[in-house]
Amino acid sequence: MIYLDIIDTNIKIETKRLILRKPTSDDIDDIFEYAKEEDVAKFTRFKAHKSLQDTKMFLQIVKQKHQNKTALTLILELKENKKIIGSISFQNISQDDERAEIGFALSKEYWSQGLMTEAIQKLLEFGFKKIKFNRLEAFSNIENFRSSNLLKSFMQKEGVLKERDKVKDRFCSFNIYSILRKEYILNKSFR
Ligand SMILES: CC(C)(COP(=O)(O)OP(=O)(O)OC[C@H]1O[C@@H](n2cnc3c(N)ncnc32)[C@H](O)[C@@H]1OP(=O)(O)O)[C@@H](O)C(=O)NCCC(=O)NCCS
Repeated sequence: MIYLDIIDTNIKIETKRLILRKPTSDDIDDIFEYAKEEDVAKFTRFKAHKSLQDTKMFLQIVKQKHQNKTALTLILELKENKKIIGSISFQNISQDDERAEIGFALSKEYWSQGLMTEAIQKLLEFGFKKIKFNRLEAFSNIENFRSSNLLKSFMQKEGVLKERDKVKDRFCSFNIYSILRKEYILNKSFR
């Protein structure tokens, strides 16, 4: 059994440099600022936002998925200036299988500083310790070296899914990564 009621609560996860929390409508300008970047959206499921209307729609979908407990999206807020610089999420949550997919995006200005490493560390802890998922997985476009590099330090690569999805009119192949709860417990102190 997994504990998805936590999605309804006021989640605040702290890392060294970040706060991870649910977005509100006040965050729309900051979210638009990174979501409009073509380099950020190149390998994500979402298309680069063209206007605040796209970001408004994104926030509505996030809210809806929180309500039906099929996803949990948290934004990354920099502690030093409260700026929102990206997001991280559990997507396609399967209550029956006690599993979810991890997704993430960060404003290009902040790449290569280890910020997403910090965020993923805490998200895994939250997923296994609080929600109690059995399995967390991530799909990374085989051309997305940054993402694959990041994932391989937390998860095991299970293989390549050839041309699995048609994303933005192109068939794309994905590296699939996973970690099980028992594997996480073996490697981490669980207290
Ligand atoms: C993939 C993505 C999230 C990576 O973000 P990131 O914050 O740069 O990732 P990391 O946390 O792995 O950063 C590691 C880099 O920071 C450096 N670094 C600096 N300080 C560090 C620290 N304290 N800890 C870890 N790494 C640190 C590492 O050396 C590494 O450098 P490199 O990029 O030159 O190899 C980002 O590139 C992105 O948003 N891409 C577009 C969206 C996307 O592709 N999403 C995934 C879809 S599946």
